[in-house]
Amino acid sequence: SANLKWGVPRPRAAKRVIVAQTGTGSHKVAILGAAGGIGQPLSLLVKMSPLVSALHLYDIANVKGITADLSHCNTSAQVAGFTGKDELAGSLAGADVVVIPAGVPRKPGMTRDDLFGINAGIVKELVEAVADHAPGALIHVISNPVNSTVPIAAEVLKQKGAYDPRKLFGVTTLDVVRANAFVAARKGLPLADVDVPVVGGHARSTILPLLSKARPKAAFTDEEVEELTTRIQNAGTEVVEAKAGAGSATLSMAYAAARFLEASLRGLDGDDDVYECAYVQSQVVPELPFFASRVKLGREGIEEVVGSELRGLSEYEARALEALKPQLKASIDKGVAYVQQQQ
Ligand code: NAD
Ligand code: LMR
Repeated sequence: SANLKWGVPRPRAAKRVIVAQTGTGSHKVAILGAAGGIGQPLSLLVKMSPLVSALHLYDIANVKGITADLSHCNTSAQVAGFTGKDELAGSLAGADVVVIPAGVPRKPGMTRDDLFGINAGIVKELVEAVADHAPGALIHVISNPVNSTVPIAAEVLKQKGAYDPRKLFGVTTLDVVRANAFVAARKGLPLADVDVPVVGGHARSTILPLLSKARPKAAFTDEEVEELTTRIQNAGTEVVEAKAGAGSATLSMAYAAARFLEASLRGLDGDDDVYECAYVQSQVVPELPFFASRVKLGREGIEEVVGSELRGLSEYEARALEALKPQLKASIDKGVAYVQQQQ
């Protein structure tokens, strides 16, 4: 299975495998918000994973049809659907990883923080259930504003006595995926080789791509740095505007979430070389209790917050890091206060 990637396997000498029909993996994955714009294509990608034996789909509505539909794919993951609050506990039983794309998306003119009013409560309620019914699971938070929903999740877990910072992640993989795609196109590099760390948070200028640390090493003019950084920071808005009221990124997000899930499952399996950027509790930047940076994934979740990519920044990056601190700190504090005020 090490040779298989999500849906796009590495080519083999004689034949290409398009979809893994059987797998030896035994991981259970629950998706909360599975009937949504992200949830549906993400569920399909997870159904295609050879690392997954059970896939639980939870949403407040429309799960039954999606479950019937997906269950006809002749891949090994067993699909089960769970609809409405009464079935939430059942959806979480035995989960190794819980992925949370539940919540409302942006419309043109909105910031991610404008979603706080609705999504904070959704994330709080779902994470409370995870604490009760899947206390050892890795939690992948996709719901926006990620800069605040992850601190909300942490506070909820603390209140429940179930917080393990190694197991809580804000999914920022889409920022890395975008950075890789845009840099490869701009510099004419092979897509598979490009790796750009993206640190900070997941909103506006808190998204900080470290182009000086891009692999393979590439020379960027000041104009290119400015242009690429701005495009990566605004890529979510680019999609929101193109969809013109019909939501935000769903397909690329599902792809990114599947990549991050695969990395996490490989870590749980004991693979030794699994690194991704994610928004996690960290001391990489002392003033910011949550910060996206490169982490090593292992058998218990985060094995190490690496953070070495923060050393030797370009002047542009160092300035951008200073500038993002107050905005990210305010979003973290807002999430923490939201949970503490309700006690
Ligand atoms: P969507 O509206 O298409 O789907 C959301 C789903 O959540 C719906 O099916 C809805 O029924 C469900 N839901 C609502 N309340 C729920 C609850 N209490 N329990 C369970 N499910 C519930 O939205 P989408 O396009 O899939 O986006 C979902 C979220 O992901 C948004 O907040 C969006 O901003 C965010 N997002 C994050 C990233 C990222 O990079 N982290 C990228 C894209 C989108
Ligand atoms: C994204 O980056 O695409 C998501 O955070 C969705 C959004 O609102 O932009």
